Amino acid sequence: MKEPSLKILSLLMVVATLVVIAGCAGEASSDLTTELTSQAGVAPAKKTYEDLIVGFAQIGDESEWRTANTVSIKSEAERLGVELRFSDAQQQQENQIKAIRSFIAQQVDVIGVSPVVETGWESVFQEAKDAGIPIILVDRRADVPEDLYVTLVGSDFVEEGRNAARVMAELLDGKGRIVELAGTVNSAPANDRYNGFREVLKDYPEMRIVASNSGDFTVAKGREVMEEFLQAYDRDIDALYAHNDDMAIGAIKAIETYGLKPGKDIKIVSVDATRDAFEAMLAGKLNATVECNPLLGPQFFDLALKVVNGEDVPKWIKSEESVFFPDNAAEVMANRIY
Ligand code: AHR
Repeated sequence: MKEPSLKILSLLMVVATLVVIAGCAGEASSDLTTELTSQAGVAPAKKTYEDLIVGFAQIGDESEWRTANTVSIKSEAERLGVELRFSDAQQQQENQIKAIRSFIAQQVDVIGVSPVVETGWESVFQEAKDAGIPIILVDRRADVPEDLYVTLVGSDFVEEGRNAARVMAELLDGKGRIVELAGTVNSAPANDRYNGFREVLKDYPEMRIVASNSGDFTVAKGREVMEEFLQAYDRDIDALYAHNDDMAIGAIKAIETYGLKPGKDIKIVSVDATRDAFEAMLAGKLNATVECNPLLGPQFFDLALKVVNGEDVPKWIKSEESVFFPDNAAEVMANRIY
């Protein structure tokens, strides 16, 4: 084996001294230590979960899905010993942008963000990139060039829309008038679930969407918009497609108040597969729910650690999801945690 040169030996001695000083002097010298170690040809030590400081810019608390998603992220950080700095943007994009800028100023290791809408992220993502802080998209896509984020972990919302339409076609036997409660305007799930549903509907010319409006993914708005649909179309509605369960739950209340039977007079298909949706299916008020998995915490932190340690990660880690119906709701619900 080749003897180490004098230059490498002396560099290693400097590194050893710096490691001791770093112990006393705090974190400031750790970057220098890493740089000198790598100059000396010694690989820097891999980071562990306990070393990580992660900023997370959450959308808000608009739905049962979002609550489960937040719990998954917070509890996984705690379990792993990651230092999590969490921000709730109350559904405002400007608050999410502010949170990301504050995480950049705090020099966190990784930033996770679930973008409330698809557009308007380029400058702040570029700022993170310039500061050397990787962005991981969690749940929702952002319309930015691919080099501005390292990876996306979340669902295929277009496929969820297609699945909802396939189920609806069976429920209506390929024929009927549908109203649609769409999600937050310009959000990735609303755009994709809208498009995926229509893609499948092309094969069913006798199924028509007669009205579509945003219910912003909330129970209250879902109820309000469904009331408007009922005022406008009275009994001339065969089915409701809701982009999430919360809006479907709101709509169920509106339909009952109007004197009709949800799940029977008006067939209902929604997305998420939350506990409330299972309860509505058991009560015969919801005909199907398409799964959208919020439990993304474990995958997010696994990716964050890989990214800070320089490992390659796929550009999109897609969730595996299914569709649930009333006939197996009780059995499935027993094992669900949200
Ligand atoms: O982005 C995922 C969507 O956001 C969920 O379907 C919805 O319930 C939530 O608000």
